[in-house]
Amino acid sequence: MSAAKVSVSEAVARAAEHSIREENRLIVRAYGFIPVTEHFLRDTVKQILHKFARPELAPALSVILKELTVNAAKANFKKIFFAEHNIDVHNPEDYERGMRMFREAISEQMSSEYGRKAKQANLNVHASFDFDKDRFIIEIKNNLPMTPMEERRAREKLRQAMQCTDMAEFMMENVDETEGAGLGLVLCLMALRSSAIDPHLLTISTNYENETIARLEVPLHREYLPRRHRWRSPIAS
Ligand SMILES: Nc1ncnc2c1ncn2[C@@H]1O[C@H](COP(=O)(O)OP(=O)(O)O)[C@@H](O)[C@H]1O
Ligand SMILES: [Mg+2]
Repeated sequence: MSAAKVSVSEAVARAAEHSIREENRLIVRAYGFIPVTEHFLRDTVKQILHKFARPELAPALSVILKELTVNAAKANFKKIFFAEHNIDVHNPEDYERGMRMFREAISEQMSSEYGRKAKQANLNVHASFDFDKDRFIIEIKNNLPMTPMEERRAREKLRQAMQCTDMAEFMMENVDETEGAGLGLVLCLMALRSSAIDPHLLTISTNYENETIARLEVPLHREYLPRRHRWRSPIAS
């Protein structure tokens, strides 16, 4: 028997095939994290990497894609959840109480319910794949700014992860449960390192107004110089 059927519509699949063939940028909009979308995105990444002869990067990029889309959807859900429970994100005590409630409420069922609510509230997640023979740029965007707390936490996680070479050791020392286990970004950077991709090529930024973007630029061959490396002086390390 085949596995549960998780496929997007014919039209979407054809559009994706077309954009991979023509090397056009592909943008997918979602509201929650549902298996159909997740499967489709993972499959698309696989096809793109196959096209450019780097199929061995697929497992690492799939893990990263999943972590980043869940973070983006979670940020949107949190906004709705906090509004429903009158949580003021700028008040630290309130925020902590809200996060405790949010953590307890997170479940598969919550995900589909809040996916619907996010759609109604027009809070979405955009996955963009921009690729050519030189590089593959993955951007996961949600249409909310990061709150100061979130930004601090994202920065801190990236900083810790940058210094971490051993996941087990990291977990012993750093698991904090304020939001989630706080291991998603660490896992992303580990996955990059183990694929010999510079972890600095994953960035998260907000315009403080209406969007947060997680961006990963994956060089597809040795000669390609990623955007953030181009401005470095050759002697600076
Ligand atoms: N798109 C985003 N919008 C807002 N905050 C984000 C976003 N992505 C990451 N963050 C922040 O970065 C933190 C760390 O993410 P992560 O390492 O995946 O841990 P976790 O999801 O378990 O909390 C999140 O808790 C959140 O505060
Ligand atoms: Mg996460």
